[in-house]
Amino acid sequence: MDEHRPLRTYGRIKARTLKPRQAGLVESLLPHLALPEEGPIDLVALAPEAGPLVLEIGFGGGEHLVAQALTHPETRYIGVEPFLNGVASCLRHIEEANAQNIRLHQGDAREVIARLPDASLDLVYVLFPDPWPKLRHHKRRLIQPEFLGELARVMKSSAELRFATDWANYAAWTLEHLTREARFTWTAERAEDWRNPWLGHVTTRYEAKKLGDCAPVWLTFVREDRPPKS
Ligand SMILES: C[S@@+](CC[C@H](N)C(=O)[O-])C[C@H]1O[C@@H](n2cnc3c(N)ncnc32)[C@H](O)[C@@H]1O
Repeated sequence: MDEHRPLRTYGRIKARTLKPRQAGLVESLLPHLALPEEGPIDLVALAPEAGPLVLEIGFGGGEHLVAQALTHPETRYIGVEPFLNGVASCLRHIEEANAQNIRLHQGDAREVIARLPDASLDLVYVLFPDPWPKLRHHKRRLIQPEFLGELARVMKSSAELRFATDWANYAAWTLEHLTREARFTWTAERAEDWRNPWLGHVTTRYEAKKLGDCAPVWLTFVREDRPPKS
């Protein structure tokens, strides 16, 4: 095993064989929307029209990503998802809706974030990340100190990180880790703030399955203009 490679945070990258239409979209549409495979990501070259930049990590089937992109046509969206069937489903939604403001990457969001310039993102969604509920698998959770440090680097001052889970232990884990990262502040002032989704939220496929052990918890963190704790 490559010891420099971070632990895998996701399960399968492919399940059933793609339907012919989806396979066709992976062949024909994905190359037009895909981020460059390597090297620093030049956001101006990628999407010259100025506008806020939003990243959705682990978009699943892409329902939320595409719905947000259609509601905010002036905003640019990057979606990252390692699961090929999810990417194919997202391509179908993009084509059906003729969404023009989405770029995709099939792979690990941590690898994309490492190639983004400092202070480039206005909003980041992490919706129902793989919960890895067993204690011995907690190290596979996406929310880890190193990941949060990198997120802080690529988020603009005042940018929001929106996180949702329906696993109580993952909600507590996330709050604990975010509290330790000086560059983020949890914005909640009352219980309704974490009990209710954000305005304009679109139910995700995983959320609808209600597989967790609690009602969804909606956590919003703001990137503060502060240096990391030394
Ligand atoms: C439980 S599913 C939720 C999918 C979607 N957000 C939803 O709510 O329907 C978690 C998703 O995160 C993806 N994922 C896990 N680790 C990831 C990573 N490092 N980068 C990008 N996506 C990741 C998985 O492939 C999976 O599709």
